[in-house]
Amino acid sequence: MKAIEIRNKHLKFFEKNGHKIIPSASLIPENDPSVLFNTAGMQQLVPYLLGEKHPSGTRLTDYQKCVRTNDIEEVGDNRHLTYFEMLGNWSLGDYFKEESVQMSFDFLTKELNIPVEKLSVTCFAGDEDCERDNLTAECWKKAGIPEERIYYFGKDDNWWIAGEEGPCGPDTEMFYDTGKPKCSEKCNPACDCGKYVEIWNNVFMEFYKGKDGKYTKLKQHNVDTGLGLERMAMLLQGKETPYEIELFAPVMEKLKELEAEENIASRRIITEHLRSSIMIINDGGRPSNVDRGYILRRLIRRMTRHLNKIGIDLEKLPEIIGVSIDSLKEMYPELVENKEKIKNILIEEKNKFTKTLKNGEREFEKVANRLKANEKDTIDGKTVFNLYETYGFPPEMTVELATESGLKVDMEDFDKLYKAHQDKSRMGSEAKFKGGLASTGEMEVKYHTATHLLNAALKVVLGDHVHQKGSNITAERLRFDFSHGAKMTDEEKQKVESLVNEYIKQDLIVEKLEMKKDEALAMGAEAMFLDKYGEDVTVYKIGDVSLEFCGGPHVTNTAKLGHFKIKKEDEISIIENNQEYLKAFRK
Ligand code: ALA
Repeated sequence: MKAIEIRNKHLKFFEKNGHKIIPSASLIPENDPSVLFNTAGMQQLVPYLLGEKHPSGTRLTDYQKCVRTNDIEEVGDNRHLTYFEMLGNWSLGDYFKEESVQMSFDFLTKELNIPVEKLSVTCFAGDEDCERDNLTAECWKKAGIPEERIYYFGKDDNWWIAGEEGPCGPDTEMFYDTGKPKCSEKCNPACDCGKYVEIWNNVFMEFYKGKDGKYTKLKQHNVDTGLGLERMAMLLQGKETPYEIELFAPVMEKLKELEAEENIASRRIITEHLRSSIMIINDGGRPSNVDRGYILRRLIRRMTRHLNKIGIDLEKLPEIIGVSIDSLKEMYPELVENKEKIKNILIEEKNKFTKTLKNGEREFEKVANRLKANEKDTIDGKTVFNLYETYGFPPEMTVELATESGLKVDMEDFDKLYKAHQDKSRMGSEAKFKGGLASTGEMEVKYHTATHLLNAALKVVLGDHVHQKGSNITAERLRFDFSHGAKMTDEEKQKVESLVNEYIKQDLIVEKLEMKKDEALAMGAEAMFLDKYGEDVTVYKIGDVSLEFCGGPHVTNTAKLGHFKIKKEDEISIIENNQEYLKAFRK
């Protein structure tokens, strides 16, 4: 079964079971600069897990584009991926363990036709924070999983939380038995030997872990699930690695055809990093030296380095990108429209790195000459690390060049330094995820209201064709993305600025209204993504100036905002999220 078929079956199954399909959030979290990438389906749902009313109701399902970057260096083995798609279904204070287990069981055995014998499950063993999850185990037994394939584990295996603080709870995980022999007497689903592959995780989110590490019960019990699509496709297609499924195989084959030197790890790295880079760029990511831009840069560099390593002419990159997009376009139709832009960004970054490689080589020459002048023959770890950190020069390239020059490299020393650096960046990204779930501060609320005023003012000055396409708020500033065919003139900017300040001065009242979607549309309310909303919606009205679909929060009156100023305007191209796919799916 192809990945897209699994995705479609999943959405249809949960729709049939009363769930509303919601769009995938962007990989680049909206309004949340503190998070690197969207890493789980629940990320866009945090407020609703905590008790806010979701416009689409209490049963939701989606497919979520995810990027997890903790293990970039592991990619190249037979299982790690940085980009993946997570299929999810949620109960927001609706059904709980019994129905959740039954639906998962039915989906796996009846829709995907996985034989029951292939399935094992794990449940939470219980501790001082939460009781043993006998109920879930009972539900599995009732559904048809025999007792000997129901396991209990502690928090390390059967508890899920994003980061250190936030909504969380015990989970139950489903495993697929690949049929490989047990690695030992004790081999079980918690074992990493490859016999059991985790396929689905249902989190029973009824707790909140506070900053102090204490658990309290949430207002409502929720279910949050995640099913890794590529892994499921791999298993259902009887493949050993995800690289053999249709989303990757054509690129793998193309590389094989072009490479001068056979190297499966390099082929996988190129294929995987290329897909992640394409998806990140497609959602508006751009290479840079900080945060997510840097991750993207690292992915592209590593890909370029491996293209080089296996002797593929870098001029072939556009062709390889074309093959990758062709394999992905059925799942992400928006890639077709963005193809040229994605290609240009990747090629430009590749070109920049080619220069970096050249600079690194030059620096290496200096290092080598210095050593030789001092009659030494070993490059220490710090030098290798500096070449890597400062010039982006890959350590294996240093080793290669060293060998050619008759020098040795102290890789043990380098590995130590590198490991310390990795631990630091891992800690950084975990902290960032945690930060992303933090609540909205006073300044952010002000910017949020200013967004509505700016949207309204742009329409007055530029015309009704202006629509909001996104926004990004920090405590320091507000970024507003909108559709308009041209760059704004200075005069237009001036007008918009004055108008917003005028609205602020008028001290307009900001009202929260609840109504039916149709009613709101009839009143002319502005909506960014109409598909995102269900029947009952919240609309914010600011005097007679603005009426917008929005979940808030906002200030009570505009005088609270202070002075408004436009600092900068840039032309960017906005990439529509997965609306096209969802439209086709609904037909
Ligand atoms: N949020 C859960 C996960 O990512 C479902 O595994």
